[in-house]
Amino acid sequence: MDFFNYSAGSLHCESVPAHDIASAVGTPCYVYSRATLVEHHRRIAAAFAEVNPLICYSVKSCGNLSVCRTLVECGAGMDVVSGGELFRARAAGAPPSTIVYAGVGKRDDEIAAALDAHIYLFNVESEDEFVNIARIAKERNAICECALRINPDVDPHTHRFTTTGTKETKFGVDIERARAFFRTYGRDPHARLVGLHLHIGSPVYTTEPYVEAVRKALALRDELIAEGFTVSVLDVGGGFAADYETGKSPAALDYAQAIVPLLLPAVRAGLRIVLEPGRSIAANAGILLTRVQYVKRSGDKTFAICDAGMNALLRPSHYDAFHFIWPTETSAAFIPTRREEKPAMTGLVNVDVVGPLCETGDYLALDRAMPPVARGDLLAIFTAGAYGMSMASRYNSSPLPAEVLVDGLQFTTVRRRETYEDLVAHER
Ligand code: LLP
Repeated sequence: MDFFNYSAGSLHCESVPAHDIASAVGTPCYVYSRATLVEHHRRIAAAFAEVNPLICYSVKSCGNLSVCRTLVECGAGMDVVSGGELFRARAAGAPPSTIVYAGVGKRDDEIAAALDAHIYLFNVESEDEFVNIARIAKERNAICECALRINPDVDPHTHRFTTTGTKETKFGVDIERARAFFRTYGRDPHARLVGLHLHIGSPVYTTEPYVEAVRKALALRDELIAEGFTVSVLDVGGGFAADYETGKSPAALDYAQAIVPLLLPAVRAGLRIVLEPGRSIAANAGILLTRVQYVKRSGDKTFAICDAGMNALLRPSHYDAFHFIWPTETSAAFIPTRREEKPAMTGLVNVDVVGPLCETGDYLALDRAMPPVARGDLLAIFTAGAYGMSMASRYNSSPLPAEVLVDGLQFTTVRRRETYEDLVAHER
């Protein structure tokens, strides 16, 4: 579900034609729909209402201040993984008591900043890190709460780069070590170990891996409680999928129906639940607009050469990810009713949609069936709101794209396009 639809042959974000935004702001340009962000958050909150979770939006998926602020206005907390994201979350107005902080490599200065901010929870990933947090907290005469990230050794069946819950990855500690961890550190007066954290991977297209991971976490919690430890928080992490192709991912309700019954007894006995969704909120709340610069034929291939490539959207070349791409202006015969790799339409042509950079890996789609495109056409790359702008680079000295937030009939540039001066601003 999102608010990007064709009306009279023209793609609209909410009530604004995409081509109006491109004319005003230029390309490449990320366009976010406020109503979609709000609706995605609402659906997760409604689906999990029985366990009343703290929903901490994963800032890494799309950290634009206006996007974060929109979610703060919905009541979301923030999941951060760096001092930079903590800064963003606070600048967006997130109350520190709703901020959770994960990441395997927290630096001393980042830990100190999080302590000074009085965030809700450190999600701790190793013994070394816990000792360091406890030391810094003691030095500052502070008390903080921590959840131990456990590695449940569950396969989320997703790309190997974004699989995090299997034992060969760098994340969390295995369940055997987790027991020893609580015995060794579970009574620290400055870093109070009060919970467990999971994040098994992203995107997770089935509910079973969550069921397996949550079961393991709850069983461990029972053991720890029996030993006299407090485990009052379970952070289930993120990873809910988003529809890159129409109808391909479970809905928030599907995840909730699988997970909530497992959690309910413990929640009724006082357990607090945290969720960290990123993609499921932001992905389909954003598109990337790019202008076709040239169409070129070589051998039996056709290339649509665009002004956005792997610099603006890394996912196709980095993860072999599918993003639906379609012209923003199209005749009645080519109005897409579903976003899919092989639309059932006649008259489509196969093109490689590529960027301007000097690498063969610089593409947005290979051999993609699309309506015929020409120089000057505006293309929309869908489901680009998550891990789009947040992973964009300035490779080939490309200024970062602009970002626009649409709200009904209005749109606002929420990050201006970078200039050439910006490119060299920190250099000498
Ligand atoms: N919590 C933790 C601890 C995480 O590491 C992540 C994502 C999330 C929550 C949010 O996961 P989400 O709900 O967005 O799936 N760049 C990759 C995705 C990397 C995800 C990293 N961690 C991509 O473009 O697919």
